[in-house]
Amino acid sequence: MPNLVIVGLQWGDEGKGKVVHHLSEKADYIIRYQGGNNAGHTVVFDNKTFVLHLIPSGILQKNKKCIIGNGVVVDPEALIEEIDFLQKKGITVKNRLFISSTCHVILPYHRLLDGIREKVQNIGTTKKGIGPAYADKYERSGMRMCDYIDEETFNEVLDKNLKEKKAVLESVCDISKLKSEIQGKRAILVDNIKEYVADTSLMINILIEKDKHIIFESAQGTLLDVDFGTYPYVTSSNPISGGVCAGCGVGPTKIDKVLGIVKAYTTRVGEGPFPTELKDSTGEYMRSKGKEFGATTGRPRRCGWLDLVALKYAIRLNGCNYMVLTKLDVLDDFEKIKICTGYKYNNEIFKDFPLSRKIIQNCSPIYIELPGWNQSIKGITEFKKLPENAKKYIKKIEQLTDVKIAVISNGRDKKETIVVDKNILK
Ligand code: IMP
Repeated sequence: MPNLVIVGLQWGDEGKGKVVHHLSEKADYIIRYQGGNNAGHTVVFDNKTFVLHLIPSGILQKNKKCIIGNGVVVDPEALIEEIDFLQKKGITVKNRLFISSTCHVILPYHRLLDGIREKVQNIGTTKKGIGPAYADKYERSGMRMCDYIDEETFNEVLDKNLKEKKAVLESVCDISKLKSEIQGKRAILVDNIKEYVADTSLMINILIEKDKHIIFESAQGTLLDVDFGTYPYVTSSNPISGGVCAGCGVGPTKIDKVLGIVKAYTTRVGEGPFPTELKDSTGEYMRSKGKEFGATTGRPRRCGWLDLVALKYAIRLNGCNYMVLTKLDVLDDFEKIKICTGYKYNNEIFKDFPLSRKIIQNCSPIYIELPGWNQSIKGITEFKKLPENAKKYIKKIEQLTDVKIAVISNGRDKKETIVVDKNILK
């Protein structure tokens, strides 16, 4: 198996959890390179549903090892909670999870700051402290995992940070109380965390030298990328495939293939532009049939037709070799299905994704319409057995994007998968 990056090609929630879980059967290591516990990866197997936020979903596969790379921000409380949850379900984490010593740590004041900033910014963040933790990293005031573990460094960094943030935090809490709470929690958590901490960049490069098979998984989708997404309505890291290098400490020459995950329609949770959003009964139908509620916050996801302007942009940014099309079954009952192929703004037509926030916020979608298949595709495991109109929908996406759809997902369970091209792992 090649070293594979698995990225979401929309605004997240494309179904990466299921794909990573499936493909990780063939991998040795599954690695997260950005984001934090803002993500929510849902995996269903053996009639059990697992929602993971921080630990790669590969942990659910026996004998596979997982790494949290330096590009991830880690909330120690959330980490221990997730480890405990897995262990209670009978999944061993010890000796199977490694956390970068240089990943940045999310502390309670990051969560407080997230809430304070949201009141003004209204990005619709998960309020998990992700943005403020990344902001500290780039301000050079962040707390890295190796600093958190060492009590002296921890106290030094904590002191400086609380001094620096005093004016803002004072309005919402008692700072000395907050400080002792943070110190107290650390004292409880640190021994449980220490054993997982490693020089993961060194580890990953040795693994690659030994020809181990690696999956790098993104936490969010491409359109939430801080550089290329719908700024400022984005997350604070780089989910695009290029994020792997900085987020794991590996060179671009070590990555073999990029697999993009795209949902058969589009969803978005949180605020921000969404040209194909349907605020009508069709959108509501997609939400209820697709169970489109945020895995982390429970918020209803906004739904709309597939947007090829955005998809082609995401394919280009990631250098996708193949795609996986997920949740095709959600479109089973439609008479007609629309695909957006361009945007219109002030009588100008856009075929390439516009970068100006004014244009993306105010453009209207231009659609082509395809006949629906109007029947259930549940239980189908071969491409040739799909209804003709479903095949036409898939072919149209391939034709317009020039990228092959190698796998189709038609249900939450692992068995509900159609592998079109087995070469995907070669
Ligand atoms: P943050 O990452 O919590 O700062 O939130 C920034 C934006 O990214 C918000 O619109 C969130 O709803 C969105 N977001 C963050 N993580 C995910 C995810 O895993 N799926 C979908 N949206 C997400």
